[in-house]
Amino acid sequence: DHIDWDAEAAEKGGFDTYMLKEIYEQPQALTNTLIGRLHDDTGEVNLDIGLDPQSFKRISIIACGTAYYAGLVGEYLIEQLARIPVEVDVASEYRYRNPIVSEQTLAVVVSQSGETIDTLEALREAKKGGAKTLGVINAKGSSMTRELDDTLYIHAGPEIGVASTKAYTSMVSAFVMLALWLGRARGTLDETQARDLLHAARELPRLVEEALAPERVEQIKRVAEKYAHARDYLFLGRGVNAPTAFEGALKLKEISYIHAEGYAAGEMKHGPIALIDANLPVVVVATESRLLEKTISNVQEVRARSGQVIALLSDGDTENARHADDVLYVPRAHEMVSPVVNAVALQLLAYFTATALGKDVDKPRNLAKSVTVE
Ligand code: G6P
Repeated sequence: DHIDWDAEAAEKGGFDTYMLKEIYEQPQALTNTLIGRLHDDTGEVNLDIGLDPQSFKRISIIACGTAYYAGLVGEYLIEQLARIPVEVDVASEYRYRNPIVSEQTLAVVVSQSGETIDTLEALREAKKGGAKTLGVINAKGSSMTRELDDTLYIHAGPEIGVASTKAYTSMVSAFVMLALWLGRARGTLDETQARDLLHAARELPRLVEEALAPERVEQIKRVAEKYAHARDYLFLGRGVNAPTAFEGALKLKEISYIHAEGYAAGEMKHGPIALIDANLPVVVVATESRLLEKTISNVQEVRARSGQVIALLSDGDTENARHADDVLYVPRAHEMVSPVVNAVALQLLAYFTATALGKDVDKPRNLAKSVTVE
């Protein structure tokens, strides 16, 4: 009724939807994730957890949905920066596959709600095998936090929109800190590398603020509207940004119902290349990276088959813009933290596609915010 409507409008703080509000809350959410944990002067990371960083030999990251993609970024970061073997599983697989666990295992569960039943049961499975456990969690006092040895809260604030946005970027930022902390403690990162990364992480709220500048958002909206009637979409990325492509595809299918696939760019030739024609928009995450040249050659393969290339490029990269039909520029960021900045552009692309098609983005059909039954 009228009063409820007013109350809800007030809660959305002037935005049309919770999702858009939460997208714009990301600079603040990231500040809250990072605050008090990174020390510029000493290069130290303080996560306030009891875990002994030397007490395990491998890490299992376990999660569902968007949190799983944050875990894939975590795998890349931890292996690169701390040189510890990491595996990542969707919780519904992990819990039933009789996983190999020991006292030498650190199980890291990732969850916005802390209530997802598959993730909770997977945590119990890991504990049964003797693993130490750490959670990357948003909801205070949630079921998982009561069973975990340690919780690294992301402090993103309440997330109402069913499709996760600010929780994702905060989870990824938490993994940046975790990887830094492990790398420092285990001696795989020297002080200069650590300081560089720490500095890059601290820049994230400002970079995301910049990624949300009105002219950038307008450009994303234009591109979204141009391709809103596509039947399928392909998302490509490499390395630490391969999961960015997966998450971009997930966001789009969740709220616009357009079929979308996310692929590691180098794997395109083993299947999805068969789908490419003039009706297929292909989003390529091609921001500054060690492997940018390889990604650009994938872009050329898409172009050669008349695919429509939407390139996510770092500011100033006019050279590679030549290879794209449409360009979304994002602020330059250290490669290891770039998934946070890049995700924001893809959230907006999904958002404006869904709204162009008249979909209810806060309550997409068939999806629930938190899945507490199997
Ligand atoms: C549901 C939501 C997703 C979320 C997933 C995991 O499917 O719709 O947005 O990523 O659950 O939720 P969690 O609370 O464990 O992060």
